[in-house]
Amino acid sequence: MKDTYILGIESSCDETSISIVKNGVECLANIVSSQIDIHKNYGGVVPEIASREHIKNITVVLDECFKKANLTMKDIDAIAIAYGPGLIGSLLVGLEAAKTLSYLYEKPLIPVHHIAGHIYANSFLEPLTFPLLALIVSGGHTELVFMKDHFSFKKLGGTLDDAVGECYDKVARVIGLSYPGGPLLDQLASHGKATYSLPYPLDDDSYNFSFSGLKSAVINLHHHILQKGETLNRENLASSFQKVVIDTLIKKTKKALCETKCKNLIVAGGVSANQGLRSAVLELGKELDVKVSIPPLAYCTDNGAMVASAGYYAYKLGRRADLYLNSKSQEELK
Ligand code: KG4
Ligand code: ZN
Repeated sequence: MKDTYILGIESSCDETSISIVKNGVECLANIVSSQIDIHKNYGGVVPEIASREHIKNITVVLDECFKKANLTMKDIDAIAIAYGPGLIGSLLVGLEAAKTLSYLYEKPLIPVHHIAGHIYANSFLEPLTFPLLALIVSGGHTELVFMKDHFSFKKLGGTLDDAVGECYDKVARVIGLSYPGGPLLDQLASHGKATYSLPYPLDDDSYNFSFSGLKSAVINLHHHILQKGETLNRENLASSFQKVVIDTLIKKTKKALCETKCKNLIVAGGVSANQGLRSAVLELGKELDVKVSIPPLAYCTDNGAMVASAGYYAYKLGRRADLYLNSKSQEELK
């Protein structure tokens, strides 16, 4: 059978990334230009700066991608674009690049939901096996999604307020870590003990999550300690926070696995890089005799390869967009 080459473009936040993936599972080039060093100075992503940086970077990233894969536009079967959700100005840069290439080279344009991309990042380990349960943990999403086949998404629950990555970044900022705080907080937590008492958010029977109360509890605790002139043990606070987050994610994931009798669990999104979460999920898999898949670290945070992989399966299903495709800051998973 003829091989299929998909070009994947991702620019939803502060990473400009373009990749080429063969048959949905083999990544030939994954170029990621990160803007972290710029946004660090502001403690978080500044949308206007992000879109300007995407404009500067996108053609450079595109050239580098083709060089790395040793291919040309002629070899490409279709162009997959993460059209949303995300920062509207950032999304538009990737979308316009994708549309331009599609028009000029007469290649089909495949619309990919950003979170579908995160889910399909697991294809780089082995093709997805259905039915599966996806635990989605990123800077903008915290969701449990049941999939009975490719692109069949049934949302069981999601966050009612902050996403888990957002909560990591905010807590990290309060205790003086730089942006993005998630990975730094994760590192700190591995050196501490969960000695501080924090509330368990939305500890109920639903599949929903709520992390804003936990975030406020950490902020209040931090202020009280400083007001009393005591010293904060940052490692222990990080560890206490991480324990509550992981316990909560695992408890609801376990319930969903038991109720759906699903034997495949995948984790998706930037927070799947979290070392504590990775080992807790593997442990859960052993306990329930469930096959667990977590993306390799290079594919956890935003990248074009995940978009290209999802794009391949969408392409095979006949999904297409025309040149009127618009970017969406918010969009249901589809
Ligand atoms: O999926 P992603 O790259 O972007 C969105 O789609 O939002 O996720 C980025 C988020 C950030 O909030 C970042 O702090 C978090 O993922 N993150 C982590 C870790 N690595 C990245 N959070 C906790 N532990 C980590 N090791
Ligand atoms: Zn993402």
